Amino acid sequence: MQNKQNIGELACLGGTPVFQEKLHVGRPNIGDRERLFARINELLDRRWLSNNGPFVHEFEQKIAGLIGVRNCIAMCNATVALEIAIRAAELKGEVIIPSFTFIATAHALQWQEITPVFCDIDPRTHNLDPRRVEELITPRTTGIIGVHIWGRACDVEALADIAKRHNLKLLFDAAHAFCCSYKGRMIGNFGDAEIFSFHATKFFNTFEGGAIVTNDDALAARIRLMKNFGFAGYDDVIYLGTNGKMNEASAAMGLTGLESLDDFISVNYHNYVAYRSGLRDLPGIHLISFDDAERCNYQYVIVEVDEAAAGIGRDVLVRILQAENVLARRYFYPGCHQMEPYRSCSPHAGLLLPETERLVQRVLSLPTGTAVGPDEIDKICQIICLVVEHAGDVKARVISQLIVTNPTGGKQANVV
Ligand SMILES: Cc1ncc(COP(=O)(O)O)c(C=O)c1O
Repeated sequence: MQNKQNIGELACLGGTPVFQEKLHVGRPNIGDRERLFARINELLDRRWLSNNGPFVHEFEQKIAGLIGVRNCIAMCNATVALEIAIRAAELKGEVIIPSFTFIATAHALQWQEITPVFCDIDPRTHNLDPRRVEELITPRTTGIIGVHIWGRACDVEALADIAKRHNLKLLFDAAHAFCCSYKGRMIGNFGDAEIFSFHATKFFNTFEGGAIVTNDDALAARIRLMKNFGFAGYDDVIYLGTNGKMNEASAAMGLTGLESLDDFISVNYHNYVAYRSGLRDLPGIHLISFDDAERCNYQYVIVEVDEAAAGIGRDVLVRILQAENVLARRYFYPGCHQMEPYRSCSPHAGLLLPETERLVQRVLSLPTGTAVGPDEIDKICQIICLVVEHAGDVKARVISQLIVTNPTGGKQANVV
């Protein structure tokens, strides 16, 4: 349909949605189906479905080569990979992490009765603020887990310096950062180990999956044991372990996806550039940028909404977009510290997290990947421009009509 000319045409005010189909934030990338099916046939013929099969082995080698890291251990998902890396690195007591992350970063610690200590972020990067990290170190602290949010690297050097001075382990949750670099070096080479997610929602996926990468051979050997019940050979268990193995079908998907990696990234990059141009100079709408000098996967298109400057808040904008079938999403809202069991353990944690609390009210992500192309992005940007240009009227007419579903309680409430 044509671009909307006035706010009366907005779907939330009774107009027709600009898109008939829902546009999701990310649609899984598949790669070449024929190549995938050929590999699936091969593994079925071989009847080797799991347990360190040839596809997993090849996948690990390819990832290690791509990242330039000594060891890659493929895993069933990034959450289990985090749990195993945490255990293999012998973290205990307290570990400092951002609250502005997916809940798995915190749960991977709490699951093992290690206390996640939530640290505030640098509002410019959305990553851990090293100055705040240092203030949170206690005699019980054993480690730091940085998260490279949106694929933009943490301040790796500052965190490594703190870890070294305080004798702490340093891990990175690199779930967002596969194929991204920091100062020209691929993410995956920093800290004691880094963890990737290859979940279906990531730009590169193995259906479910993940990997731990590390240049520490001894740590890698421990992780290999732990992810396979501690088996060192038939009938020979020499370590406490669990089941973190990637299966052969996932590795087949991964090997196939790797062959299209540049195409996946190119689609994301062109989408990002199109959004950047469509949202340029719009007051209060800030698209987060990526350093062109670094490698990046561009898998997230993230907008910060400054309500004072835009005249409209993030939540109302999300609702307006969703009514148009643009499934924009709040991210990491309301912050891990506001979720259970952490909220009950530390109800006042937010007092030490002012930047996190501010950011979770402002951030939204927009559809990208193969779900959208230049035409869709143009239309999405037009809606946002229309809303911001007429923010006063939109507020008056839309807000009172907007009925939102409270995502935590399922209750209905007016947005005011
Ligand atoms: C920052 C972060 N950490 C961990 C995970 C968990 O990954 P997985 O779904 O592979 O367990 C995710 C998944 O989205 C994530 O975004």
